[in-house]
Amino acid sequence: MMPTTVFLIQILIFCSVPGIFSEDITVEIAQGKLSGAQQTAIVTGTPFYSFKGIPYAKPPVGELRFKFSYFSSRNQYGQAGVKYGLSLASHFDIENYLFDPKSLNLPLEASSEEYTMVQNITTAITNFAKYGEPSPDGSLGVNWPKFTTKSLAYVNFGTTLESSKGADEKDMKFWQGLYDHVKKIKALSSGWRSVLSFFDRFW
Ligand SMILES: *[C@@H]1O[C@H](CO)[C@@H](O)[C@H](O)[C@H]1NC(C)=O
Repeated sequence: MMPTTVFLIQILIFCSVPGIFSEDITVEIAQGKLSGAQQTAIVTGTPFYSFKGIPYAKPPVGELRFKFSYFSSRNQYGQAGVKYGLSLASHFDIENYLFDPKSLNLPLEASSEEYTMVQNITTAITNFAKYGEPSPDGSLGVNWPKFTTKSLAYVNFGTTLESSKGADEKDMKFWQGLYDHVKKIKALSSGWRSVLSFFDRFW
């Protein structure tokens, strides 16, 4: 386990309410042992086991990429922009299409566009988990293009599913410029330099 993860877990342990970690659990999986602790969901009071600090996956730097830009009343976080004239998808909005947040009581009519979106997103994600491809049989009406630093290809989940390239090009140029600028600073500490080289792998 990485030292930072251990450190975070220590903070969590020392800051937690007494008793919260009383019912610890250890489970054995193919890769080794996992230690967890029983906790209680804040909203519903339901007990659950929490396993923290599991190194679980490679960073999302594969060649099949997507952007979620769909907007509807299901976009819980994007809704905050409506009063400023912005009807845009926000970070985390996709979760309400992948899962049904019962406490929000979001209506979902089988004849609605939102419903098709829920179908399309869950199909793409579960296909990817099962077959390593979001649309292996082309049934989503799109052939997933491969992302390379040249093609910059991805699929946009908008009102339709469409392959496109150069997502958020203007914003990407801005951040790339800032990144290149910071990298040239000679006085940069080795810690910050390693943070920057971490981001190198994304393009
Ligand atoms: C869902 O996918 C179908 C193709 O299977 C497409 O015709 C439709 O436009 C998609 N709907 C949405 C909301 O993305």
